[in-house]
Amino acid sequence: MEQKLKIMQLNDHELIESIQSGYISVCVIGIGRIGLPTALSFANSGLPTIGIDINSKLVEMINSKIFPLKDDEPGYDVIFDKVIHQKFHASTKIQEVVPNSDVIILSLPTPMDKNNIPDYSALLSVGKQLGELLSKNSLVIIESTVEPGFIENEFINSIESSEKKLIAGKDFAIGVCPETANPGQIMNDFEKLPRLVGAINDNTTNIIMKIYKHVFTVDLIPMPNCKTANAVKLTTNVFRDLNIAFVNELAILFEKVGIDIMTVLEAAKSKYNFQVHYAGPGVGGPCLPVNSYQMINLAKKMGLNTLKSVETARIINESMPDHVISLLHDAFTESGKSLENSNVLILGISYKPDVKDIQITPAEVIIKKLKFLKTNILIYDPYFKSTNIFDLQTESNLIEALQKADALIIVTAHKEFHNLDPIFLKSKMKNPIVIDSKCIFNPQSVKNSGLIYRGLGRGKI
Ligand SMILES: NC(=O)c1ccc[n+]([C@@H]2O[C@H](COP(=O)([O-])OP(=O)(O)OC[C@H]3O[C@@H](n4cnc5c(N)ncnc54)[C@H](O)[C@@H]3O)[C@@H](O)[C@H]2O)c1
Repeated sequence: MEQKLKIMQLNDHELIESIQSGYISVCVIGIGRIGLPTALSFANSGLPTIGIDINSKLVEMINSKIFPLKDDEPGYDVIFDKVIHQKFHASTKIQEVVPNSDVIILSLPTPMDKNNIPDYSALLSVGKQLGELLSKNSLVIIESTVEPGFIENEFINSIESSEKKLIAGKDFAIGVCPETANPGQIMNDFEKLPRLVGAINDNTTNIIMKIYKHVFTVDLIPMPNCKTANAVKLTTNVFRDLNIAFVNELAILFEKVGIDIMTVLEAAKSKYNFQVHYAGPGVGGPCLPVNSYQMINLAKKMGLNTLKSVETARIINESMPDHVISLLHDAFTESGKSLENSNVLILGISYKPDVKDIQITPAEVIIKKLKFLKTNILIYDPYFKSTNIFDLQTESNLIEALQKADALIIVTAHKEFHNLDPIFLKSKMKNPIVIDSKCIFNPQSVKNSGLIYRGLGRGKI
């Protein structure tokens, strides 16, 4: 692969011709959950693509033709087999790849530190490297989720302050296309979910739109600048965090009043302007909690007191594991048994159903609390069988795990758990306590099963 083009100097006709004939060389820095499917999509569209990552094991795995997301990104396994070693390979050598790339896409992690302050160190360190490595007239596109203003200020500065003294808009072009796909259904989202494009000037927006139009079938929405595109991405996720907090509070209230939250939500959906969100044991993953803190961080930087509603939502959602534990206590009291030294089985540790991902998962908080209560913890998750997670060896067989359990807690509503029949659980479990923090059971079917049941937002049935 080599940089063949001064991409920013091409007219529309030349650009389209270069894209269609596969002349544009692409590198994607950060080939994790989002970056790898992105890189595969570029390669699959005919553009020679190299994925860069500091994780040498991941790079080795990919170059050995093993697809790291094979369990949970349907569709991309087929594309991987098609493009690997044809249009795509992986490398750890950023210094060799970037100077020869026309388009450099960043899909680096943007987590938060232990004080909930956004951690942009991966982007800033790569930005510094780009300052030394970018060829003139190349195009940098940031897909990572960042707070509005970060690109215009800190990130561009990290590139421009290198010895090469490159200037954004003159020596290189830069824009954003925030990633909004949902893990577990990335192919579906890459085919259907409209994407936002913002850049430092209209010409760059136009070029990014043309390249992405070639790779993805989705609608592209031009934004006036990078910060507006990033604001849209954060707004959609913070909206969800807030609404989940609202439903979580309702769930706790309705338990006391004896109203079933699921019945309420089902009926509320009939109102055209109600958008349903569901209660749960907390809000995890690399997006929602982090994005709320990114928005809070931005408000603080702007000298605003804070974003009160978002801060409150975080407090509520982070307190949900405590509520799950209180449901467990309540059920043990009813059963007349002691929680201490009992075997509590956690069903599902992923932060969301049907994905193999435990980033910021509420399961971890629940497990910590159970350890503090001196319970013996068993974990069964179809995506994490017979492995060591949170210093515990996970179970490999659900029925064997049930036979050992004095209680179980549904934490993640994986598909496999939806088929669990309360009568079956009663027949297998050592002691029939079931805590349902995802409302997967039908109250009617629980009623006659003999389970000691506590459901979030459902209370005692
Ligand atoms: N996972 C999601 O649900 C999701 C959805 C939409 C957007 N996003 C955003 O996309 C971005 C990437 O998230 P992800 O979930 O793919 O993260 P990830 O952790 O799965 O992947 C990031 C990759 O970057 C690599 N990396 C870290 N530092 C590096 C460096 N200095 N140089 C080269 N490689 C480096 C890591 O080794 C890793 O493989 C984040 O900003 C995230 O917020 C994630």
